[in-house]
Amino acid sequence: MSAVPFLALILAACGATSALEPGGEHADAAAEELSSAPASEPTGDPPRAASSERAEGSAPVGSGERRGPSDFSEIELARILRHSPLPPRPPDPTNRWADDPRAARLGQALFFDARLSANGEIACATCHRPELDLTDGKALFEGLGVGERRTPPLWNLAWSRWLLWDGRVDSLWAQAVQPLENPIEMGGDRLAAAHLIASDPDLRAAYNELFGALPDLADGARFPEHARPVAGRPDDPHDVAWRAMEAADREAIDSLLVHLTKSIAAYERLLVSTDAPFDRFVAGLRDGDPEKLAALSARERRGLKLFVGKARCRMCHVGPNFTDNEFHNLSLPTADGGLPRDAGRYEGSRLLRADPLNAAGKFSDAPKGAAAERLGALVVGSETWGEFKTPSLRNVARRGPLMHRGQFTDLAEVIGFYSTLEGQSRLHGHRETVLVALELSEQEQADLRAFLGSLSGASLPETLLGPPTLPRAGQ
Ligand code: HEC
Ligand code: HEC
Repeated sequence: MSAVPFLALILAACGATSALEPGGEHADAAAEELSSAPASEPTGDPPRAASSERAEGSAPVGSGERRGPSDFSEIELARILRHSPLPPRPPDPTNRWADDPRAARLGQALFFDARLSANGEIACATCHRPELDLTDGKALFEGLGVGERRTPPLWNLAWSRWLLWDGRVDSLWAQAVQPLENPIEMGGDRLAAAHLIASDPDLRAAYNELFGALPDLADGARFPEHARPVAGRPDDPHDVAWRAMEAADREAIDSLLVHLTKSIAAYERLLVSTDAPFDRFVAGLRDGDPEKLAALSARERRGLKLFVGKARCRMCHVGPNFTDNEFHNLSLPTADGGLPRDAGRYEGSRLLRADPLNAAGKFSDAPKGAAAERLGALVVGSETWGEFKTPSLRNVARRGPLMHRGQFTDLAEVIGFYSTLEGQSRLHGHRETVLVALELSEQEQADLRAFLGSLSGASLPETLLGPPTLPRAGQ
């Protein structure tokens, strides 16, 4: 056993918590545990103390001497403490404007602005809908076309080191370029976006204040209405128009585009989910406050015990965001029972390395920083075929369908799958050896579901959930 859980335990037992910062390193430690010694992970449930059989909602426990509820073993307690609280938002040195409130306000305006799309009807918020937990509630996304993957929510991505199901981008600002220009999502292009900023006085004023003057776009021969690079499609009219531009003009437009997406990223960094019943419960474990300890019902506590023990969920859903920030192949069932076709991480890491917008590229504000260094360590091997990012489980009970193709309708189906592994697709790539059919009883499945429900956080301030009011130009 590593030193961290012991430390956590001792600190928890004394109610001294300030030294306990459950940051990325804890997740890393857990990921190491996972890769080095999954077989030695103790999975049996220690005998449950009588107190755990209390009726739903009755007062929880604390044995008076500032110890945790007696329905958890010491090992379980140490693990639970690693899931909360959420540490402070880490900085993003690749984005100089990451924490600038003016950039966030401009980014918020862009996030809700459908004029950035080819038909004027699709904004980021069309798929990432505030009222649907920042998803679209569909199995496969629908923009200008229908996609092959599900829209994930955008919670707590400031803590995420790889973005998208396959990790093909490594920053929020690089990510935002993709839906904007993807013909089946918004179908926009960077020239049209530049013209929009230039023609809208409020957007232009907000832009000027942060990034200085726009290039003079009035000369239509130099700056066409529509143009963008289209990899591998030299006949595409947008690509033809793009290549016809002067190199210096293309560069000016690229910088403008990145300013816009760095602003969107500044807004996305504010989409934080915390303060769920589970967080209050863990705060209670730390300070012994019975009111906080009452935040979880007996059923939810039983589910938590399974989560960190016998059900092995924490092997991947670890740390305060319930993700190891890594990629795994669960061999999820396919619709037709055949082999899966989506290469996931295998293709994602190849694309990330080649992306001029990655953390080591010229648009990054820290091209030699830690994020850039991580790129060097990327594994691009066939063992990553079919791997997808471990999603955060915060707010998970508020969304559905679930998984990267919306393979499951709801939590009951997900937990049913982990319980039996029924329908697992035939092997393609490297399947997780950690996954074993858990054979959970009906009651255990219901307990786990109840626990996942306790990860739903307080909602965001209204002011973040719609288009903001930009200061009027000239005021
Ligand atoms: C047509 C629907 C649609 C639109 C419009 C859309 N998205 Fe998404 N978004 C998705 C889908 C689908 C994914 C997952 C795609 C993948 O992993 O390949 C995704 C993934 C993301 C992610 C990564 C989340 C994670 O957990 O890694 C971010 C960030 C994001 N979108 C932000 C945006 C922004 C910003 C915009 C607007 C510029 C936007 N999206 C527009 C559907 C959409
Ligand atoms: C081997 C690592 C691993 C283990 C162990 C694991 N998960 Fe997952 N989980 C993942 C990955 C990876 C995904 C996304 C898979 C995909 O879409 O292809 C996922 C997806 C999910 C989702 C869907 C979330 C969403 O937004 O779509 C839920 C819910 C979930 N897991 C809960 C659990 C529970 C409960 C357990 C324990 C019974 C568990 N997981 C064990 C790695 C794991």
